Parts: sequence; C-alpha cells; structure tokens
Amino acid sequence: MSAYDMNTPLYSALKKYIDERGLRLHMPGHIGGPGFNQSALKVLAEFDVTEIPGLDDLHAPQGIIEEARLLLAKAYGAQESFFLVNGASSGIHALFMALKRPDAKVLVPRNCHRSFFAGMVMAGTNPVYIPCQVNGELGAALAVSPADVEALLGIHHDAEAVFITSPSYYGSTCRIQDIAALCQKYQKPLFVDEAHGGHFCFHPDYPRPALEQGANAAVNGLHKTLPVYNQGAVLHVKGHPDTKRLRSACSLVTTTSPSYPILASIDLARNLMEERGRELLEAARIMAVRFRTRINMTKGLKAYDEDELKKTPGVFSLDPLKILIAFPGLRLNGFEISRILRMNIEYR
Ligand SMILES: Cc1ncc(COP(=O)(O)O)c(C=O)c1O
Repeated sequence: MSAYDMNTPLYSALKKYIDERGLRLHMPGHIGGPGFNQSALKVLAEFDVTEIPGLDDLHAPQGIIEEARLLLAKAYGAQESFFLVNGASSGIHALFMALKRPDAKVLVPRNCHRSFFAGMVMAGTNPVYIPCQVNGELGAALAVSPADVEALLGIHHDAEAVFITSPSYYGSTCRIQDIAALCQKYQKPLFVDEAHGGHFCFHPDYPRPALEQGANAAVNGLHKTLPVYNQGAVLHVKGHPDTKRLRSACSLVTTTSPSYPILASIDLARNLMEERGRELLEAARIMAVRFRTRINMTKGLKAYDEDELKKTPGVFSLDPLKILIAFPGLRLNGFEISRILRMNIEYR
C-alpha cells in the first residue's frame, strides 16, 4: 500500500510533501537535511517541517492534524484527543492549568510523577495527598485505594478534581471504576495519569483503559509503550468539565514549533495498533507469560503475577508486559542485580 493510501492523514501528507521535492523556504534551518554535515542526522530531517500551507497548525487544527486527531479520539474512545509533543508531562500540566480556581484544591496521589508538582506550581494548585498502598515485599507504591479517596472527598468538599496515577510505573492499576463512581457521587471530575497504559485499549485481556472505566481525562505517554518518538504523548477527554479551557491550556504549555516527526509517529502508531494491535499485544503477552514461568523455575528468583499483586489493597490488575522480579534467594541488592543484568544481557 502506498503511503498516500494509508489511514494516516498526517504522515501521508508529510510524505507527499517530501516526494514533491519543492524548494524548502521555511524553518527549521537544516532545510530538510542539507544543513547537516552528519549523514546520521539527515535521516529524520525531511519530515522535520513547520506549519506551511497544507500541513495544518497544531494550535488551531483544521486540516491533516484535525483529521488525525479525530482518528486518534475514535481509536481511544475519547470525545476529543490532543496531540502532545512535550511528553505526558505537558498533558498533566495542561490539566492543572485548566482548573477553574487559581488556588484550586485537588486530590493527588502521594507517589505522583514530578510533572504533577510542576503543574501544581504553575497553576497555583493546593494538593491534598492521597496515601499510597505500598507492597511491603517489593517496597513499591502500587495504587491508591477507593476507601482513601472516599475519606478525603468526605473531608474536602471544596476539592475541584481528583487525580490518580494508573497504571503505576510497576504496571499495577487502581480500582478506577470504583474511584470514578465516588467522584461521580461527590461531583468531581477524575483525571488519570495513564502514561504507561497507552496500549491497553487495543487488547481486551489487558487492563481496561481509564476512559472506559469512567475517567474524565487520561494522559498516555505513547512514546513509553508504542513505536512513537520520544516526547510523543496524547491527552484524551470524555466528560471533562471545560474542554474549551483545556484546549487553551494545552496550547499554553505547547511550543509554537511542534515536531512533525513526533506527530507523524503518533499517527502511524495509532494506525498500526488499530490494524495489528491485538495480534502484536497477544504475541507479547504470551512471551511475557513464558518468561515469567521460566523466572519462577530459576532458583533464588521470583516473578510476581497479577493475583499476588492484587493482595495489596487498591490494586485491581497488572499490565501483563510489566515483569516484576525479586531476588529473595540472592544476597544482592537491586543496584547490583541491575549492573549484572546490564553487563550480561544488554552488553553481552
Ligand atoms: C507515571 C508517569 N507519569 C508521567 C510521566 C511523564 O512522562 P513524559 O516523560 O512523557 O513527560 C512519567 C515519566 O516517566 C511517568 O512515569
């Protein structure tokens, strides 16, 4: 299939522009590659364009970016989706910046990513921390529990929103459906940092995506789990209280020179996952099951499975592709193990 016939409006338009080989009288200064002396840097340069006629404008999309955005929203079951070219961090920043009150109170998980703190500083938000449920054996914060969210909502009636992280860095998800029901009861929107879960919606046996479970907004760091250039991420909304304000906030935290290679890679990844996501995720899931079994047959090692992690309060499921390994039979700490694995596997 030719690039022009693919269901990828953004990538296809860029490819057409490159193939037409017009004179590049626009930024960036490398003019599509010739400006670089190093051939390695020329590889991507052709796609690194700017908002010239026909290639739309991320801040006011009406053409190929709008088309790609609609396809993205449809694939993720969102009312509206926003392309992010500065990582999941910028989606989290935008959610804070779009809060109504300048000094809004927001429930946030105690183990939140540092982008929350930047977002709260910029927006002037007052955090109320939701305690985390820590798995004692792993020493890892895995989730927040609905009971803790309810207790805080019962005290902080003036909170403007609830923010949770699910999945955690370790792949454990929260009981989002229960937390969403509580948020509905107290009439608060629920925002989910789903940075590590951008692949969930493409396979029914993976954890259910946050939007499907009642979240009003979710941020996916697509570069983390899909073939997307670093910094490529998306923000989805479904029943956000003020989408217009959020749109402005996204624009506010976004460069006026967005990277087209990042945008095109998101467009391609969405198309790939729609066409082959289920098959690819199934193959990966089977490999992960086999790997986990072999680890558990090895003396001194232990790979955790979903049932075991669900014993930690608040944990609902586990991303099958996150393999958590402990070394209870070895007298080595995590840093030492990491060094050994790096030398023997990555640099063998
Ligand atoms: C849970 C979580 N949220 C948000 C982010 C921010 O993502 P990004 O690096 O795409 O800005 C990260 C990054 O590691 C993360 O682990």
